[in-house]
Amino acid sequence: MILSKLSIGVLASGRGSNLASIIKAVEDGTIQGKIEIVLSDNPKAQALQRAKEAGIPAEAVSRDQFKTKREFETALIRALKERGVELVVLAGFMRLLSPYFIEQFPGRIMNIHPSLLPSFPGLAAQKQALDYGVRYSGCTVHFVDQGMDTGPIILQAVVPVLPTDTEEDLAERILEQEHKLYPKAIALYAEGRLSIEGRRVIIKEGDK
Ligand code: GAR
Repeated sequence: MILSKLSIGVLASGRGSNLASIIKAVEDGTIQGKIEIVLSDNPKAQALQRAKEAGIPAEAVSRDQFKTKREFETALIRALKERGVELVVLAGFMRLLSPYFIEQFPGRIMNIHPSLLPSFPGLAAQKQALDYGVRYSGCTVHFVDQGMDTGPIILQAVVPVLPTDTEEDLAERILEQEHKLYPKAIALYAEGRLSIEGRRVIIKEGDK
């Protein structure tokens, strides 16, 4: 079966290591897609640099260029729609999107979060896990709804939390899993194998 390529837009605020793993998966054909644009709310984000180096259009859209959040989000929406983006991928994008933005891409925004949701949503998820004393943590790829890290869960990966772990140790162990999990979830979406039923994401078997 020949699938048409999924048009992907990535929003990232910082380092962009997840972006790099997605770029790699697109390049090696794991993801049947094309990254049309990378946008960042942080002009200094390494993610923008990584995109440019891979020949992907990259633009900074700073929040402080705009009077209101609505105008800021309108600029993001316009840039994504101009490129025909079908799936919006949040890769370390550190702003909560409003219902206005989310309604423009219903069921078509994904996020990765460094904990086993619904535990430890929001900021500093790895520190929250250490402070709580859990024995296992991990990462979650989910569709974005109007809450903070509350949307239907697509995939999760588990890592142990070791007694000697610093926040950085745990973040690094989780990140290694993120780099495998996010491309896998995007590939499933690109193959048309994900559907949302209430809170559940159904994953269709692949062609054998
Ligand atoms: C990742 O660990 C990602 O899960 C997390 O930020 C990091 C971004 O790293 N995202 C969140 O905490 C979102 N709430 P990266 O820029 O190297 O991909």
